[in-house]
Amino acid sequence: MLRAQSGQQAGVDTSAPGCRVYVSRPLPEPGIHLLREGGAEVLQNQYDTAPSEEEWRAGLAQADGLLCVLGDRIDEARMAAAPRLQVIANLAVGYDNIDLAAARSRGITVTNTPDVLTDATADLAWALLLALARRLREGERLLRSGSWKGWSPIQLLGTGLQGKTLGIFGFGRIGQAVARRAAGFGMSVIYCSRSPKSVPGLAAEPVGLEGLLAGSDVLSLHSPLTEETRHRFGAAELSALKPGCLLINTSRGALIDEAALTRALQAGELAGAGLDVYEFEPKVSEALLAMDQVVLLPHLGSATKEARAEMVRICSQNLLRVLRGEPALTPVG
Ligand code: DGY
Repeated sequence: MLRAQSGQQAGVDTSAPGCRVYVSRPLPEPGIHLLREGGAEVLQNQYDTAPSEEEWRAGLAQADGLLCVLGDRIDEARMAAAPRLQVIANLAVGYDNIDLAAARSRGITVTNTPDVLTDATADLAWALLLALARRLREGERLLRSGSWKGWSPIQLLGTGLQGKTLGIFGFGRIGQAVARRAAGFGMSVIYCSRSPKSVPGLAAEPVGLEGLLAGSDVLSLHSPLTEETRHRFGAAELSALKPGCLLINTSRGALIDEAALTRALQAGELAGAGLDVYEFEPKVSEALLAMDQVVLLPHLGSATKEARAEMVRICSQNLLRVLRGEPALTPVG
């Protein structure tokens, strides 16, 4: 269901008047208010699921701006259905769902939401890491089953983190924030990224991919999904992991060949995986769902009220700025 909501309120900046923005999902606070206050007419999908093809057509036909989410594939065909489109604001830091070349050739600005979700995502990577290392899922299930008989010296023994090595693949903002948290757990940090980075106050040693695989007790992935990083972790890389390694992924599912991961977990080549993202999201394989040594979350990396509010704010500002003829705050590509 699409609902049009007009801006043009008294006393607000109406310097993007007459512009229409299609919003592909309901949004958390501040929602579409900033767009309306900026003078845009907003057409919004009212359901928390992807619009149907018909709804996309209706939404895009008149849209000058689009606010979309990472599950929306915005390709050439979709852009062709939006002849007035000037700006696409993706409600995410990652933008692998958008065909940047097609946007460029049509003169459409694409924007993302960097920085504001860094801490939320880093926290979630640690939540997965701790849940996996200390077997929280199994413990909670035991308790809820009603069959817990009390404390036992041999029950649900997990893995201690102190003195272990945290490996980070991709050392941008989120990778660095994850690394920063490691000091509190007494872990040392190695990282692999396209170029060595010296970050003041952060002790972390650059290594190549081989060194990362062989040296990490916990390996956490924080790289964008590109043609270069797709399936970066396949059968060969997974079998080169240090025995007992725990693998955490809060970036994009397709960095890992999920079929190879399933086989590696079954073969015990790694001790466990904490996943927030999936190769064929939102589909998660039955094999992974059945495993005890994995913790699975439904892409919650940026899901705090604080981070999401800022993400909505940045998207709204980017849309309004471009529609007013000003440069976007956070353009990509
Ligand atoms: C992003 O912003 O790319 C995250 O995956 C959303 O949570």
